[in-house]
Amino acid sequence: MTYQNILVERHDAVTLITLNRPQALNALNTEVLADLIDAFAAFDADPGQRCAVLTGSGEKAFAAGADIKEMVDKPAADFFLQDFFSGWQSGVVGTRKPWIAAVNGFALGGGCELAMMADFILASDTAKFGQPEIKLGVAPGMGGSQRLTRAVGKAKAMEMCLTGRMMGAEEAERSGLVARIVPAADLLADALKTAATIAAMPPLAAMVNKEMVNLAFESGLAQGIQSERRLFQLLTATEDKREGMTAFVEKRPAVWVGR
Ligand code: HXC
Repeated sequence: MTYQNILVERHDAVTLITLNRPQALNALNTEVLADLIDAFAAFDADPGQRCAVLTGSGEKAFAAGADIKEMVDKPAADFFLQDFFSGWQSGVVGTRKPWIAAVNGFALGGGCELAMMADFILASDTAKFGQPEIKLGVAPGMGGSQRLTRAVGKAKAMEMCLTGRMMGAEEAERSGLVARIVPAADLLADALKTAATIAAMPPLAAMVNKEMVNLAFESGLAQGIQSERRLFQLLTATEDKREGMTAFVEKRPAVWVGR
């Protein structure tokens, strides 16, 4: 499948998706979202694909936000009637397999929100995160006020949303927004290698681990612990559980079957 606004490549069991509007700093418009929804659905449906990486083309930006030129003249009623931005939650966040955002520059507004939809963020040392929507007379609309606050805490999230200031990679790592910082030149290779490590894991266990950590992010402690126990018990029914534990006991590498 070829797309107008993104590039999709397969690297063995890793799908690499690249936002590809560098002339607009990879701003996210309706067409980009449609392409991403399709690409993530294809990734989820393909049993040969185990982990994905999302990055931005060009050296400057992961994504500089939702496309301001698309929104500038849009009537409020249309935002409401189209339930504008809802597709990000259902079509991107709904991806069941793990995926990594490799943030290679500006991740602003919707770009920061998209990065935060990933299971984790790897940031180049040039990455800059921000929720500058207030400067446009609006506020985050793709989950930013909620995910940023959960990621970095109220004080920093509030300061960033109210002032629109950007956070550099060092501060983002210190604050828990990103998993690791990688030199810009190595970011893509590192992200693909990390994704290949995940892709080599038993796939059902990878999906369940993802679901569990997201539960911690999205539910209360008691519900999260209860659900974790049930999901753990579910995994004990898999062939890969028998194989993984038997391989350990027999001191040999495991061979995963994905069931
Ligand atoms: C549309 C954008 C864009 C965006 C950049 N461009 N960001 N187009 N939507 N979000 C376009 C510019 O118009 C320009 O194209 C080209 O990309 C290069 O951008 P420059 O501004 O010339 O680059 P530079 O001077 O290096 O500045 C980089 C920047 C700046 C600091 C990232 O572009 C910027 O501030 N962008 C907007 C960031 C932002 O406010 N994001 C939040 C959007 S709202 P042309 O053809 O004009 O030269 C959002 C959620 C809204 O994401 C949710 C609530 C409704």
